[in-house]
Amino acid sequence: MTGSAAVADARQPSYSTAPPAEAAAIEVRELGKAFYDARSGRVTMAAQEVSFSVARGEFVSIVGPSGCGKTTVLRILASLEEALSGTVELFSPRPPAMVFQEASVLPWLSVRDNVGFPLHIAGQSKRDRKPREDALLQLTGLMDFADAKPHQLSGGMKQRVAVARALVDERDILLMDEPFGALDEQTRMVLQQELLRIWEASRKTVVFITHSVDEALVLSDRVLVMSPRPGRIVADLAVPFQRPRDVVALRRDPRFWDLTHTVWSLLAQPAAHQDTP
Ligand SMILES: Nc1ncnc2c1ncn2[C@@H]1O[C@H](COP(=O)(O)OP(=O)(O)O)[C@@H](O)[C@H]1O
Ligand SMILES: [Mg+2]
Repeated sequence: MTGSAAVADARQPSYSTAPPAEAAAIEVRELGKAFYDARSGRVTMAAQEVSFSVARGEFVSIVGPSGCGKTTVLRILASLEEALSGTVELFSPRPPAMVFQEASVLPWLSVRDNVGFPLHIAGQSKRDRKPREDALLQLTGLMDFADAKPHQLSGGMKQRVAVARALVDERDILLMDEPFGALDEQTRMVLQQELLRIWEASRKTVVFITHSVDEALVLSDRVLVMSPRPGRIVADLAVPFQRPRDVVALRRDPRFWDLTHTVWSLLAQPAAHQDTP
């Protein structure tokens, strides 16, 4: 690592209103990130030379082993973390919406008020918010629970609330960090199908982090495979399945298993540790 020279290059994501000619929504170039632990004096490289772009309206997943830097890359895209080196551009007038692994619902608010929270923050009155809240409650199957409090909901329902809230104020980029990771397999499959339906209706630009190869293939147009920490993108695979997709039928397609095998082979590559002691 080059210390202060690299630090001087650090950039926060830049937002621009004019989309480039090729209609990219996100451009990440040579992104690097290290964490320094003052107590142990250790430097952990979390991501290295990560480069990729995402077209507008594209659904891209990033898969990689636990600890390879997926969350770090996403947090940099969301401006929650600063890059050490490299550049990140989001071609959108507004910051992206984010969905986390742990459903970040506000426990004291009703489902409706959780969904409408970004509109409330933007200064909209209860009455102004209602039509948009209704649309999202409908879209995510939460209408019957509009007045419930989060503690009355299952994990899957809470995650629906988080998805509805991420969509409510119509950001054009959606960043999702293992949003279904804490759910049982059956709930997960239901929500994958829901997300496909919602995405097909809204065609947002999505970056979806998962450690599940299966989930990445079911949902995405492209799958980026990351190496073990410090994560690099080692493959960029197109997922050829037609849309609209059926999460169950898709698994009967032999190409699904070919791709699964390809991704697993890439993930089986050994790690290249480059941390300082
Ligand atoms: N705030 C932090 N301080 C120190 N180390 C961190 C911090 N965040 C992440 N890391 C380290 O960076 C590496 C990548 O973490 P992360 O991006 O969360 O991986 P992933 O999401 O792929 O599991 C891990 O080794 C993790 O321990
Ligand atoms: Mg993570």
